[in-house]
Amino acid sequence: MSIYRIAPSILSADFARLGEEVSSVIAAGADWIHFDVMDNHYVPNLTFGPMVCEALKPHAKKPDGTAVPIDVHLMIQPVDALAAAFAKAGADYISFHPDASPHVHRSIQAIRAAGCKPGLVFNPGAGLEPLDWAIDDIDLILVMSVNPGFGGQSFIDSALRKIEQARRRIEASGRDIRLEVDGGIKVDNIARVASAGADTFVAGSAIFNAPDYGDVIRSMRAGLEGR
Ligand code: DX5
Ligand code: ZN
Repeated sequence: MSIYRIAPSILSADFARLGEEVSSVIAAGADWIHFDVMDNHYVPNLTFGPMVCEALKPHAKKPDGTAVPIDVHLMIQPVDALAAAFAKAGADYISFHPDASPHVHRSIQAIRAAGCKPGLVFNPGAGLEPLDWAIDDIDLILVMSVNPGFGGQSFIDSALRKIEQARRRIEASGRDIRLEVDGGIKVDNIARVASAGADTFVAGSAIFNAPDYGDVIRSMRAGLEGR
C-alpha cells in the first residue's frame, strides 16, 4: 500500500445525507474519514458532536467490511470531556490544538488511555514548540494550511515550511507518526505538499464539491505517485 492517505473532510459533504456521503466517498477510494468538530468558541463555527460520529461509525467501512479510520479533528475548548466522548463514539485518531488545552500532556494521555491515537494540530500562526515535549507520545501531527473554522479557503504557503520542519522532527524522533495537512488541498497542489513531507491529506471542498469523488481522489493519487 502507498504511504499516502487521503482523508476527505465531511465538513463539505451534504449534511442531509451524511451516512450515504461517507459510504460513497469510501467507495470512491477514501483512506480515512476526517471529522471536523467545531464549537463556536475555539473557532467561529459549529458542526457536529459524538452522537453524529457514533451514527456514522457503521458507515466507515469499505465494501469488503474493512474498517476505515475516523480521524477526529477537535476545534474545541476545553478538550478532555469531548475527547473521551469521541473515543466512546468510535473515533480512531483524535487530534486537538495545544492552545485549547491547559494540560496538553494530560489530554494526550487521556486520548491514548481511551484507546485512540492522539494527534496535535498547529494553526497557521502557531509554532511547533509543543512537540519538544509531546512528540514521543503522539501518533499524528496535523499542520493547518488554513485558519480553522471553514471549508473552501485558500492554501497558506507558509504551511509548507512548517511541514518541512515537522518532517525533520519526526525523523529525529525515530517514531512512526503521520504528518497530515488540512486546508486548501487540491489536485493541483497536493504533490507540492507531499514534497514538503506530508503523507496524509485532508480535502473537503475539492472532493465533495466535485461531481465525481472518485475522479478527484484518483487524480490526487496520480499527483502523489507521479512526483
Ligand atoms: C477547516 C477544517 C478542514 C476543512 C478543509 O477548519 O479543519 O478540515 O474541512 O476544507 P477544504 O479542503 O475545503 O479546505
Ligand atoms: Zn480538519
